[in-house]
Amino acid sequence: MAIYAIWNNKGGVGKSYLTFQLASEYARQNPHKKVLVVDLCPQANSSSMFLGGMNQGEVKLTQIHTHQPKRTISGYIEERIRSPYMSPSTGSSYITQVSQYNDEVPSNVYLVVGDEQLETQSSRVSSATNPGPQDAWRIVHLWIKDLITDVQNSWNDDSNCVFIDCNPSFSIYTELALTAAERLIIPFSADGSSKRAVKAVLALVYGVQRHSGDPLSEFFLNSKRYVMALPTIYMYVGNRLTQMNSSSASAFRTVVNEIGEEIWGVWRTASQFFYIHPSGGSTPISQRAFKEMFQYKVNDANTASVVSGALGIPIASLTAGQKNVAGRSVTVNQSQLDRQVPNIQELVQKIE
Ligand SMILES: Nc1ncnc2c1ncn2[C@@H]1O[C@H](COP(=O)(O)OP(=O)(O)O)[C@@H](O)[C@H]1O
Ligand SMILES: [Mg+2]
Repeated sequence: MAIYAIWNNKGGVGKSYLTFQLASEYARQNPHKKVLVVDLCPQANSSSMFLGGMNQGEVKLTQIHTHQPKRTISGYIEERIRSPYMSPSTGSSYITQVSQYNDEVPSNVYLVVGDEQLETQSSRVSSATNPGPQDAWRIVHLWIKDLITDVQNSWNDDSNCVFIDCNPSFSIYTELALTAAERLIIPFSADGSSKRAVKAVLALVYGVQRHSGDPLSEFFLNSKRYVMALPTIYMYVGNRLTQMNSSSASAFRTVVNEIGEEIWGVWRTASQFFYIHPSGGSTPISQRAFKEMFQYKVNDANTASVVSGALGIPIASLTAGQKNVAGRSVTVNQSQLDRQVPNIQELVQKIE
């Protein structure tokens, strides 16, 4: 049983896409385990994919959003705003079995549906942290942890796995996600700003200062003050790597290596921020062994990725051929699938 947050302090790096692919594939590889996805991003992109993609998924989302009582993440947050310091233990009533809406997703996947209302609720969540009881900050930061515990208790068995899709910004919800998670998956794309974003993650969560004297994040300071556990880095994933031609492939490799160096540097001075994989053997001592445990890549599968997300079909179940996307016929090639499916499968095999 593990709780993963998928976060990087940057949009468009594939957090939602990978949440969809990893959770679906994990469920396929582990049919006897229940998988919970918590969509903590107001854009609800991963929810839309789980519920059937661009057309079907959006219709289902609206259906779920307009149903009363509201069984989405915002419904739960609303309940917690009313009862900030005492858990109502109602988390399990906020989950949706995805296969009831989209039979392409394995039946062991459950979702706390994302909701744009999170945005309008966020100032009320923040104000619940202060004033209040002396440790209001700590109690509010445990809301998502409480939600997950409620669901796990209702399942009554330990063999489950949780994925939390996060907002790119370091919002209150990202803080709640990080407090709930045990392990952090950091996707990044191969560009310069991704390197900056990875540094921001290290600074905001672990207090790894970029320049001495930089102010530390409130989250880092309060987590320390209240002795709260932080998630540790489980993997960082170079995503959407292109294999278009050898020069772009080598440019991508250069950026990925730079980010790898950055994270390797952190490991050498602060290995306590990393999660040694349970069946990964001993603590890595060489850079090569470090990369083997922590660094992964997912190639860009072009049209196949677009179709997978747009139709809500996990990439490992997608087949080659003509597909209908929003009334247009598009072709998925086997070569596109071969580029990404093994990446996703291999990555999921490391998720324990
Ligand atoms: N490996 C990939 N191959 C192809 N397209 C991808 C891949 N990962 C993400 N995408 C696409 O890139 C865009 C941004 O991804 P998304 O998951 O929404 O990013 P984030 O959640 O980090 O903001 C989406 O259109 C998504 O479908
Ligand atoms: Mg997203």
